[in-house]
Amino acid sequence: MKISTDRQYFHKLYAVADDPWSFASSAYERRKYALTVDTLPRVRYLSAFEPGCSIGVLTELLAPRCDSLLATDIVPSALDQATKRLEDYKNVLVEYRAIPESWPDETFDLIVLSEVAYYFDTSSLRDVLEHVERSTSQGAHVIAVHWRGETDYPLTGDDAHALIDEIRSLRNVVHHVEDAFVLDLWERVT
Ligand SMILES: C[S@@+](CC[C@H](N)C(=O)[O-])C[C@H]1O[C@@H](n2cnc3c(N)ncnc32)[C@H](O)[C@@H]1O
Repeated sequence: MKISTDRQYFHKLYAVADDPWSFASSAYERRKYALTVDTLPRVRYLSAFEPGCSIGVLTELLAPRCDSLLATDIVPSALDQATKRLEDYKNVLVEYRAIPESWPDETFDLIVLSEVAYYFDTSSLRDVLEHVERSTSQGAHVIAVHWRGETDYPLTGDDAHALIDEIRSLRNVVHHVEDAFVLDLWERVT
């Protein structure tokens, strides 16, 4: 069984490329981000959390939909880029924060897990998901989107979504599968 991806992996990627996954330039990412944001059922969210925000490309699309948005990552150079990209959005806070151990204390009505859940092993992702449950209340939305191609990550995108789907307080509202990625939205029902 694989263990969670070593955090040095991310530091090494950003050491050799500003945008290791081409988030800012890829047509694939642009379409996937647009679908992600368009899937959100509410026009606005009061308080959203996007762990693993990278350089903030998705964050910038989420920002106009949120009264307040906390975007976090573990790589300072990625956070520097995100901070710059989001400098005009006074409702966005970009912070160094590792999940699950530095999960914020706030309550959120939207949590966005975009291309981040499959870096955790099953036990660590369950830990993350306990925090998701603790920091949401009835009516909150959790959206997840992950690549479905072959990787050496601990979980596949489908595995990660299946683990989220096990949370009994979440009801799946949207399940969208393509060859390349899976996108799910859940609503907190209890
Ligand atoms: C593939 S990128 C996804 C970026 C962004 N969510 C998106 O979809 O555009 C994954 C990001 O998660 C960050 N990350 C990895 N493990 C993390 C952790 N434990 N806590 C916070 N961020 C983490 C990495 O540094 C990286 O920037």
